Amino acid sequence: MPAIVLVGAQWGDEGKGKATDLMGSDVDYVVKFNGGNNAGHTIVIEKDGKREKYALHLLPSGILTPTCTPVIGNGVVVDLAVLFEELDGLEARGVDTSRLLVSANAHIIAPYNRVLDKVTERFLGSRKIGTTGRGIGPTYADKMARNGIRVQDLFDEKILRQKVEAALAFKNQILAKIYNRRAVGVEEVMDELLGYVDRLRPMVADTSLVLEKALNEGKTVLLEAGQATLLDVDHGTYPFVTSSNATAGGACTGSGIPPTRVDRVIAILKAYSTRVGEGPFPTELFDDKGEFLRKTGAEYGTTTGRPRRCGWVDTVVGRYSTRVNGTTDFVITKLDVLTGLDTIPVCVAYDVDGVRHDEMPVNQTDFHHAKPVYEELPGWREDISTCRTFEELPANARAYVLRLEELIGARVSAIGVGPGRDEIISRHSLLGD
Ligand code: GDP
Ligand code: IMO
Ligand code: MG
Repeated sequence: MPAIVLVGAQWGDEGKGKATDLMGSDVDYVVKFNGGNNAGHTIVIEKDGKREKYALHLLPSGILTPTCTPVIGNGVVVDLAVLFEELDGLEARGVDTSRLLVSANAHIIAPYNRVLDKVTERFLGSRKIGTTGRGIGPTYADKMARNGIRVQDLFDEKILRQKVEAALAFKNQILAKIYNRRAVGVEEVMDELLGYVDRLRPMVADTSLVLEKALNEGKTVLLEAGQATLLDVDHGTYPFVTSSNATAGGACTGSGIPPTRVDRVIAILKAYSTRVGEGPFPTELFDDKGEFLRKTGAEYGTTTGRPRRCGWVDTVVGRYSTRVNGTTDFVITKLDVLTGLDTIPVCVAYDVDGVRHDEMPVNQTDFHHAKPVYEELPGWREDISTCRTFEELPANARAYVLRLEELIGARVSAIGVGPGRDEIISRHSLLGD
């Protein structure tokens, strides 16, 4: 089996972690290719009759599958303190983390970039992005400006010192003169980064080469995105996005696997919509229906605990996501959350100042002004969490899925009916026909 890419179709938190975990032992490598500890992927596993919840931020979800090798690809930004904290936390719960590989080319989130993320947001005031404050944006900015620090730099103290000095010569001016913050010392940064070197060394690899060999041996490689299509720095609702490529193209640049090896793209679409942070969201609800979705779907951020903004499903977004990712299969998650509604509105197009848009408006201003055009579908009241085949779903739930499938333009291969590993309906194998 070749490489499979798994992305979020909306604004994140669609259930990518659960979908990755589902493929479990059928996958040999799970590669995180973008983002960092801004992500929060929740996985619920049944162990000895009890439900155990894992929240992963930096590590790929495959770390919970004993037969799988988790890989942090070159496109990721790594906060070393978080990496080891997360590894220690999992080890303490009996998870073997010894197979983890980290790309020598991944960038490091230096301590000054965490500070800069927070002070920049404060400085922006009402124009803020609503970032997770983890230093993601400033670290990718350094990467592009060619003054970032890579994992491999930690193993050459002389080079590391040169890079830290060069970065701080500039950053300290900004910190002190614009933000009125104390300057950061070269030695404190060096001490913090060098403190991780011995533990990190055995994990570091040429992960692109490792993955090429694996694919040549017929192994299955899953490339798991953080964030989602509309948070992608190129294809999302810029500037209200994250700073990496969370769409399928990013899986290649962020892992070193060429596009010619990828033949399946799975997009995860929540049966309704959510968004954390600022930015346009046409189907957002501000009434008791929004509160219903937030409460029933437990829509509070895994990373920052912020209440997620909630709204109805938006198939213009779904269709756009099929276009920019080349989606072959969708997983619709959290269908169970919609149980109990009389009717369920589905956004099929936008009205922008009297003009109908069936596709994402090219201008961000139009997207800000977009009013959803809804189609009302009948709801269902039966508990669907125990359904395991498509036929077992109530007729209206089936019709809802089939209408979404038609509107988003790719087949729906699986449907989530609860957070647990087994709470899923499979229509087509996610690994191949
Ligand atoms: P990710 O960032 O895309 O991995 O998603 P998150 O983990 O941030 O958020 C998804 C949440 O929905 C998690 O709490 C999951 O346990 C939960 N979840 C995933 N699939 C389903 C589903 O089909 N039904 C319900 N009720 N919860 C789900
Ligand atoms: P997962 O992988 C939802 C959002 C932030 C903010 C914007 C920029 O769990 O789906 P950043 O800290 O990345 O510079 O913040 O992106 N954001 C997410 N929203 N899920 C995520 O990850 C997110 N990662 C970042 O809320 O609006
Ligand atoms: Mg999440």
